[in-house]
Amino acid sequence: MNRKIEYASFEVTSYCNLNCSFCNREEVIKHPKHISVDSWIYMLEKLKSHPIREAKLQGLGEPFMHPHFAKLCKIFKEYFPDSKILTATNCQYRITENFTSALKYIDMIYLSIDGYKENYEKFRKPSKWSKLINFLEILKNVNKYNCKITCNYVVNKENIMDIEKIEKLCKKYDIEELRLNIAQNWSENSTLKDNNNTWGYSRQELDFLRSNYKNKIKGKAPWTWSDCFWVDKGMYVTAEGNVNVCAINTSPEPLGNIFNNNIDGILNNERMKEISMACKKNKPTNHCLNCSYKELSPLLDELLN
Ligand SMILES: C[S@@+](CC[C@H](N)C(=O)[O-])C[C@H]1O[C@@H](n2cnc3c(N)ncnc32)[C@H](O)[C@@H]1O
Ligand code: SF4
Ligand code: SF4
Repeated sequence: MNRKIEYASFEVTSYCNLNCSFCNREEVIKHPKHISVDSWIYMLEKLKSHPIREAKLQGLGEPFMHPHFAKLCKIFKEYFPDSKILTATNCQYRITENFTSALKYIDMIYLSIDGYKENYEKFRKPSKWSKLINFLEILKNVNKYNCKITCNYVVNKENIMDIEKIEKLCKKYDIEELRLNIAQNWSENSTLKDNNNTWGYSRQELDFLRSNYKNKIKGKAPWTWSDCFWVDKGMYVTAEGNVNVCAINTSPEPLGNIFNNNIDGILNNERMKEISMACKKNKPTNHCLNCSYKELSPLLDELLN
């Protein structure tokens, strides 16, 4: 096995201005950090032989809180000119040059909006609906270059009825696509079933989602561990340089550290091999036992097929 990375997620910062109810950031991030520009270059040098086609410049933090985010995007495109950059943002800040310049290099942004007014503020504390509207008003007149602006809506039991209102909001502000993501659980030691908000949708709720929004719901079903692309060609790097297998289990022991270890050694080490082989045989190790892709598979199967 000599893994080559095609899809990478880079947590350029673990600072965040929000504490969203469905996000496990607070549980994982003890000492927030911005990756420095020098470390970024050092890391990309180590990765430059890998055929990265798509990179998500986000992790458990707000990417645009990084003071040099636009510069990181520019440097990434210098190393990987044919690769796509994706990112997500919570829209809870003033648009500055760091944002407008980054749009030159980003291929797709997900605006994270998952509820209308009170619900929006409830799940994304301490956000303000008025700040979001202000952000969208300014964004409307900003040069987007070739960047596709989409909305990523994390669905839970309590915000299903707001989807229609956010669909209208997207139309009003020229947001190109509304993507519905059923809430996941990114912790290794708990499951979606542990949370009443994210499990136990009623028949009525499922029928409502299926009949109105089937074509907007993202995800793959049926899905099982042997379908996992991360173990073949993916990687997640935290702001400290810790290399993890994927972005779905965000609380494991890292495979290694990109600043301290040889990257090909990390990507092909014994633990990685064990996780990968176990997925291929559909006999997951503890790392993958509570994988949200697997947990959501029966639900998504009902919604999508
Ligand atoms: C972790 S955030 C980082 C970027 C930025 N802070 C934001 O919220 O957009 C990346 C994306 O993951 C989504 N997200 C967070 N927790 C989630 C969960 N439990 N299930 C599914 N998506 C989640 C967010 O809504 C956001 O669109
Ligand atoms: S979802 Fe994004 S904005 Fe919310 S706490 Fe997580 S990283 Fe921060
Ligand atoms: S938890 Fe395991 S199966 Fe799930 S995405 Fe990560 S590596 Fe793949």
